[in-house]
Amino acid sequence: MSSQHEINPEELNAIIDLIRLQYGYDFSDYAPASFRRRIARCMSTAGIKTAYDLKFHLLNDKPFFGWFLQSITVNVTEMFRDPAFYKMLREQVLPTLASYPVLKIWHAGCATGEEVFSMAILLQEEGLLRRTRIYATDLNPANLERARTGIVPLQHMRDYTFNYIQSGGKNEFSSYYTARYENAIIDKELRQNILFSPHNLVTDQVFNEFQLICCRNVLIYFNKVLQNRVIHLFYDSLSPLGYLAIGMKESLLFSDIRDRFDVVSATTKVFRRKM
Ligand SMILES: C[S@@+](CC[C@H](N)C(=O)[O-])C[C@H]1O[C@@H](n2cnc3c(N)ncnc32)[C@H](O)[C@@H]1O
Repeated sequence: MSSQHEINPEELNAIIDLIRLQYGYDFSDYAPASFRRRIARCMSTAGIKTAYDLKFHLLNDKPFFGWFLQSITVNVTEMFRDPAFYKMLREQVLPTLASYPVLKIWHAGCATGEEVFSMAILLQEEGLLRRTRIYATDLNPANLERARTGIVPLQHMRDYTFNYIQSGGKNEFSSYYTARYENAIIDKELRQNILFSPHNLVTDQVFNEFQLICCRNVLIYFNKVLQNRVIHLFYDSLSPLGYLAIGMKESLLFSDIRDRFDVVSATTKVFRRKM
């Protein structure tokens, strides 16, 4: 059944062009079907019925764009999401990285920080946090603002505790945060080596060299061309033998440089840049 908020491909292109010209965000290489669905959902929530009206709001209402951006980017995240991935990092990746005197890790598409806080806990337990600098980036400024507060909704902590235990966690999970009303505030000590800053994988470049890059559950929203471009960006941002972790439903298959990576774990999607 067709929805009154459905937009056709031409309208979609016009909206993408408008956003690029007006706000500098380029969504032209996002997977079109799901991107269109998210725009339709957004229009329905905002009570906007036509593409014309949506363009009018985007052109004339900057706060609306902030809300729109928040609605069309998928921000779903968790602490210790996919516990098997964190177990694998703990058992196979971090012992190798322990030989570096200084470590640099990049979380690309970090959303509201839950994945980054999980990494900090892991590094703390493996004795590596003090010599690690974590760069956590996202295109969405609202996500970064939230991440910088270190606040995670308390209601999710039960699930996260379960994830943490499954991932091989060594302590009481509750020792890493303070509960205050409906929030859990992640300990400041865990957050002190994390730098949250904006970076758009579509338009921004290499900004450092890393021993580990985590970009999980982000590539899935891009078309094959953009996935390939971003894998090049990661390759160029990794030190030789550096690790790349992507989401468990994602793959390097669309990349013309997939042969420049060794597969470290096919199930948890961890790869290693060849020399
Ligand atoms: C589903 S969340 C994944 C969060 C986290 N990595 C995880 O796996 O739990 C996807 C994130 O990618 C971000 N994102 C989407 N397009 C991006 C881009 N072009 N550059 C940087 N981040 C992007 C979104 O803002 C969102 O925060």
